[in-house]
Amino acid sequence: MDQDALKREVGRAAVAQVKDGMVLGLGTGSTAEAFLHALSERVKDGLTVRGVPTSQRTAELCRTLGIALTDLEQDPVLDLAIDGADEIDPDLNLIKGGGGALLREKIVAAAAKDMLVIADGSKLVSTLGAFPLPVEIIPFGAAATLHAIEEVCASHGLTANASIRPNLATSQADSAPLITDGGHWIVDCKLGAIGDAAQLDSALRGVPGVVETGLFIAMASQALVAKDGAVEVIKP
Ligand code: 5RP
Repeated sequence: MDQDALKREVGRAAVAQVKDGMVLGLGTGSTAEAFLHALSERVKDGLTVRGVPTSQRTAELCRTLGIALTDLEQDPVLDLAIDGADEIDPDLNLIKGGGGALLREKIVAAAAKDMLVIADGSKLVSTLGAFPLPVEIIPFGAAATLHAIEEVCASHGLTANASIRPNLATSQADSAPLITDGGHWIVDCKLGAIGDAAQLDSALRGVPGVVETGLFIAMASQALVAKDGAVEVIKP
């Protein structure tokens, strides 16, 4: 089964956990989008839900698919957040932010009673860190913030190899930084195996200029992982 088919399969499995009347957190990325397509089929059949999108991209897709939107002002407590991940460890700690939406994704996941992570099997790892860790930063003083991030990583025995994520949608060779929905930049840290992800997350969030990290520690309550022909349910 190809990766897109696995994403569709896990998207359908996630929809089975959505109950009528729920207020949802709606993730960002190709797996979250597979879920939204499956959800829209249930909405067409009469399921009533509304959701807080974690990105402009997700909001636009929801409008196209006829999924009702809300926000955290009207609905500060969500029943269930459904989102993808870049890496998932055995305790359901995650690296997220490959799609650049980590800040809103973390706010939405924190506002939800439960967070359901959906992925294909390629996202399961024994230790987080092979995927570059995204760290969202304020543009002011970015070079100093990047240096401080490298220092924090070094104090945790890690070489950050940090770089500001370029906006690949622009045609310039030396493209400008990607700007997130919150008006920030993203630093990608190529760390390798992260020994203590909770400690690193807390130390990075202490750097002035850092808005949030892509480490989601103890936030997910369940993961659905599609592997050839079956969807595995993982709980921490
Ligand atoms: C976006 C994310 C995504 O959930 C993550 O990048 C996984 O994306 P995909 O489902 O396309 O592999 O964190 O910020």
